[in-house]
Formats: sequence, structure tokens, C-alpha cells
Amino acid sequence: MEKLCKVFEPYFKIGAAVSSVTVKTHAELLKQHFNLVVCENEMKLGELVDDNGVYDFSKADSIYNFARENGMEVHGHNFVWHWQSRDFLFLGSREDTLQKLGEHMKKVAERYPDITTFDVLNEAIDDKHGLYLRETKWLEKLGEEYIRDVFALARKINPKWKLIYNDYNEYVPEKQDKIIKLVSALKSEGLIDGIGMQAHLNIESPTADEVKRCFERYAALDLPMRVSELDVSLFGFDDHSTDITAERISRQEALYIEYFRTCMEYKQLVDSVTFWGVSDETSWLNGFPVKKRENRPLLFDKNQQPKEIFYKLCELA
Ligand code: XIL
Repeated sequence: MEKLCKVFEPYFKIGAAVSSVTVKTHAELLKQHFNLVVCENEMKLGELVDDNGVYDFSKADSIYNFARENGMEVHGHNFVWHWQSRDFLFLGSREDTLQKLGEHMKKVAERYPDITTFDVLNEAIDDKHGLYLRETKWLEKLGEEYIRDVFALARKINPKWKLIYNDYNEYVPEKQDKIIKLVSALKSEGLIDGIGMQAHLNIESPTADEVKRCFERYAALDLPMRVSELDVSLFGFDDHSTDITAERISRQEALYIEYFRTCMEYKQLVDSVTFWGVSDETSWLNGFPVKKRENRPLLFDKNQQPKEIFYKLCELA
């Protein structure tokens, strides 16, 4: 069988979001098809440290070590987010918050010296019409300048990291404007080295035109792009139905093909394409946005076998 990361070697790396469990249960699949991993949860700030400031690196360690043993790149995810964070960061003054964040970054940098790219800031932009920044504890405590400050801090703590801004709905025109505004400001100060496009797609959105437009606009920023969390749900975001039909699967395949073609077209800027999970069995979309609904958003089925779409994508290369 073809190896996905070999097939796409001339274009970009192929990554998977993993856990300390899936690096064991899906080890062979990972070794065969992927040359990059990211911790789906276990390197997030609130997963590494508890409310008392006590660290437990054991799960992230097992992923890091698995990747190193198998010659895979590890991408860091993430430092500043409104979710999976910790309240102790916000108890003191503005300076205290930045200092604690800096200490956290330093611990991670020392523990994982091979990590060279990090999502410094995740999902800071509001989806709602007319609003720019999402209301989060970070914004509340640090004010609008927090965006610049957290990137400057990461740059200072580890000049070797490539600093990434990562967000979803990147193909929605108004959100795209806001992301471009944020990234351009950071770029003008030399504080950002790449854009993470989450690419949580579904069979209703984006359209082929939106995919093209999205790559065109981000490419104009002239920064490396990482497709950071790719999956294609069989259901539109507000669609609560549960039936998995041939029609849904064929729409999913068409979007995957369109999306991959576009990534290949922009190979000069696209560093990596990372799937948010390894096989359908453990995808987060089996529990989001509808609880306990089977979804099949990835290239490998629940028995870890390649699906039709796996072969169709390989044929593109
Ligand atoms: C998700 C994980 O997949 C879930 O297991 C967890 O419960 C919540 O977070 N955007 C991101 C990811 O940047 O970190 C999120 O991952 C999915 C959306």
C-alpha cells in the first residue's frame, strides 16, 4: 500500500493529531503514513499544568518520544487559548499573567527542544459580525495589546520557534478579513512566522470557490501556511441528522479532492497538512457538535483501513 507521507513528500508533510493512547493503538498506521504529529490535547496549557501550578508532562512526553523514535516532526499546540487554559494565570496583575505565561513557555521549550513550530495563539478572533477579538480572560486581563505581547514573549523565550497564529472558519470571508488584519499587524513587527488554517470542513461548507479564495488571500500575506486540523464532517454544522449516506460520502470526497488540489497548487507556501485525528474511530467529531453521533471525517476507517478517499487523494500526487 502507498504511504501517504511518501506520496506527498514533494508537496508537504502529512500530520496527525494524536493522544498518548493513539500513539499506542494506532502506532503502525502513524509510522506508515505520517511524518508529523501534534498533541490533540496533551500539550495544551491546561492539560500540562493543574490549578495549583503542578505540572504533569508524562502524556506529552510519551507523544514526543514516540515522534522522536520514529523521525517525525512535533508541532506545538498551544499556549494562549480561551479553552483548556488555567485560571491561576489571571489571579495577579497584568505583569504577573505575562510572567506566568513566560515561565510556562520556558518549561515547554526546555522539555521539548526538538519542537520548532508552536501555535502561540489559538482562536483569538470572534466569529460574530462586527466584532473583532473574542472576549476571553486574556483580553480582559491584558487588553487588546495582548496579541502582540504574547508573540513577543514567545519570541524572547525561544527565538528558535516558528510562531504561528491558528484559527478556524478561515474560509469565511468576514472572519478571513479579521484574521488577515491580526496577522498583518504581527508580521509588520516580525513577530509571526506562519498561519495555521484549521480546516474543520464539512460537506456544506466551504464551497470550491471559497477554498480557492482562502488560499489566494492567505498566500498574499507571504507567510508559510500550515493546514493544521483538517477533517471533513459528513454533516453541515447545524445539521443534527445522523444518517450516513452514499451521497454524503461522495460530497465529502469531492471536497477533500478540491481541498488537496488547492494545497498542492500552493505547495511553495504550504508546509504541512495535518489531520485532526488518525482514524474515524477516535475523531472528536463523534462527540462534537452533536454528542455521540458517528461521523467519518478522516481517511482511515474505524478498523484503521484506508478508505476510498485515501486512494483518490494519492492519485492526485
Ligand atoms: C479539541 C479536541 O479535539 C477535543 O478532544 C477536546 O475536547 C477539545 O479540543 N480547535 C483546536 C483544537 O484548536 O485544539 C480543538 O481540539 C478543536 C478545535
